[in-house]
Amino acid sequence: MNAVVYYSNTGQSRAVAAWLAERLGFPLLELASSAETSFESLVLVFPVHCQGIPDAVRRFLKKVRADALTAVATYGRMCPGNALYALGRRYGCRLVAAAYVPTKHAYLEESESFSDFERLEPLVEKTRRPDALPVSLPRLYRNVFAGVFPDWRSRMAGRIVRGPACTACGVCTAVCPNGAMADGIPDRKCIRCLRCVRSCPDRALTFRPGLLLRLYLRKKPVDRILIYT
Ligand SMILES: Cc1cc2nc3c(=O)[nH]c(=O)nc-3n(C[C@H](O)[C@H](O)[C@H](O)COP(=O)(O)O)c2cc1C
Repeated sequence: MNAVVYYSNTGQSRAVAAWLAERLGFPLLELASSAETSFESLVLVFPVHCQGIPDAVRRFLKKVRADALTAVATYGRMCPGNALYALGRRYGCRLVAAAYVPTKHAYLEESESFSDFERLEPLVEKTRRPDALPVSLPRLYRNVFAGVFPDWRSRMAGRIVRGPACTACGVCTAVCPNGAMADGIPDRKCIRCLRCVRSCPDRALTFRPGLLLRLYLRKKPVDRILIYT
């Protein structure tokens, strides 16, 4: 089958995936609920986390097979890192097109969502071609500390705080992609992806960024869309 599969915690990658699915006429599937592991043409859309590939996406890539893969990594205008280069080298799919797309940062209320979808048209064209040749990606800059002590770095990033409006309804526990949440209280597996915060029906959860993260987010935003066909 053909499909657009997305992993998205705050909706940015989902919006890009939905546009691509509509243009291509492919079904739109959420990674967590997709039991399918074999595709003819697969378009995979996910956010850059710590300048790399989120664990949930790595786990999916390990079991999936696709004759042709188009990969799109959304990033929060800080640094796209090297996620797509790593994906092209490590996993057994034929990468035919790829893109880094600047979007709203999960931790920055004031940053803007991506809206220039027409710029993604070359991806659509290449994905549609049955004889599409593989694409080779350049190795981009990735900070040497980006993958170091990921759990410690997540904890340093900030805290998820449960407010009095929490009714222990269990939504946050159910939606957490890392099984890290129990009725509003995250454990050490929490990566601060903020899916729980966005999904809480009572708006009982808030994210309080720590000092290091606040300083990092002051960096001048990078607004580059990179497309490889
Ligand atoms: C845990 C985490 C790590 C992130 N790391 C980066 C990063 O290294 N560089 C960057 O530009 N944006 C980074 N972001 C921002 C996301 O890539 C960006 O907000 C993305 O569009 C969110 O997509 P989603 O709404 O589909 O989850 C990070 C966000 C989270 C939650």
